[in-house]
Amino acid sequence: MANSSILDEFKTTHLAEEKIDTNRKLKVGIIGTGWIADAHMNSYLKQPDVEIVAYADLIPGKAEAFMKKWKQTGRVYLSGDELIDNEPDIDAVSVCTYNCQHAEPTIYALKHGVNVLLEKPMCVTLDEAVEICRAEKESGKVLSIGFQPRFDANMKMIKRIVESGTLGKIYYIQTGGGRRRGIPTPFGTSFIAKDTGGIGALGDIGCYSLDMVLNAIGYPKPLTVTGYKSAYFGTNPKYMPCKEYAEAFGVDDFAAGFVRLEGGIVLDFRIAWAMHLDTPGDTIIMGTEGSLRIPSTDCWNGSVGGAMTIYHDLCGTQTQTTVPILRTDADLFDLKIRSFLDAVKYGRPAPVPSSQIIYNQAILDGICRSAELGHEIEIEIPEI
Ligand SMILES: NC(=O)c1ccc[n+]([C@@H]2O[C@H](COP(=O)([O-])OP(=O)(O)OC[C@H]3O[C@@H](n4cnc5c(N)ncnc54)[C@H](O)[C@@H]3O)[C@@H](O)[C@H]2O)c1
Repeated sequence: MANSSILDEFKTTHLAEEKIDTNRKLKVGIIGTGWIADAHMNSYLKQPDVEIVAYADLIPGKAEAFMKKWKQTGRVYLSGDELIDNEPDIDAVSVCTYNCQHAEPTIYALKHGVNVLLEKPMCVTLDEAVEICRAEKESGKVLSIGFQPRFDANMKMIKRIVESGTLGKIYYIQTGGGRRRGIPTPFGTSFIAKDTGGIGALGDIGCYSLDMVLNAIGYPKPLTVTGYKSAYFGTNPKYMPCKEYAEAFGVDDFAAGFVRLEGGIVLDFRIAWAMHLDTPGDTIIMGTEGSLRIPSTDCWNGSVGGAMTIYHDLCGTQTQTTVPILRTDADLFDLKIRSFLDAVKYGRPAPVPSSQIIYNQAILDGICRSAELGHEIEIEIPEI
């Protein structure tokens, strides 16, 4: 049953469109010219105050082919470090490398005074995340992590519902999601090999589910985790495009974790690249005054899987409020790129800050470590 008085509280307020100052252009470089770099290029080229001046990829010829495909001119390099060394005037880079190459070029760029938009997941291990945060702190530059669903109206609505107090004190969250079959291999093996992907479903799509709920509740610190991971599909040639891919598979295709968060909240999480099931369940956020059900979501594509429901009591009667899906024309990638550029240009805080995402990374890392040890572990995050 829709309840307009409650829903009115959550109406989206649209920020007035800011006029972009084109007097100062930002010089940007792209590090890693694979699949996701196309989405960055597409959005950068729509910005009137950006010049893409340089491209880097470890594979000879790849950066140049990428630049030509986009009908651009510029300089090409064989690594992120080489790009940074040879482009002293560059303002920012997009780090679009595979997960195991997130930390190194990001730290190098920050240490050389370059602002960074880093693709998700932040990296592979918590140790790497700590080093990234330290480099960011020392540099004073902007580091934003590429979680574009943050800009989705429905994701914002989830946060507003929690912040409104309608649910009361949050004490239990179930989240995650997955695909019946969806191990990402169309572009080769960089997602599935241990030395490039590092982590599998956890880092590819799990980090999005975690961000959806952790951002909504204000990113409390994770304290302990019991983790599980497996790879029954990825390593089985029956479910892979070819035997070689099954042999190359070195990451998780399913993972689960039970996480205790500061503030007496527990988080029950599961994520799958492949399974014999349609969905491992909806996301639910349970509170002392109400609970929110978010239908099983493809949250990696930035939105919810259907209308959400708030379960609450109204004048002593158990009732439900439907929160319809909010549809906007906004391109989430454009918003991710623009918000990063504005932070760089006007000295604003990073739109998706590492101070939050380090907790996301700590959970991914904790699940892996706990799964390997076979018992619950404490999450310790050193001082940055
Ligand atoms: N935000 C999103 O919606 C989204 C979607 C897909 C992928 N991603 C993320 O983007 C990242 C890249 O994914 P992809 O699909 O483009 O992978 P990809 O394998 O297609 O491309 C990565 C490229 O980086 C290059 N590379 C690696 N290390 C490098 C270095 N040090 N210097 C220069 N080049 C280097 C590789 O040679 C490769 O060409 C992953 O971390 C992934 O999680 C994000």
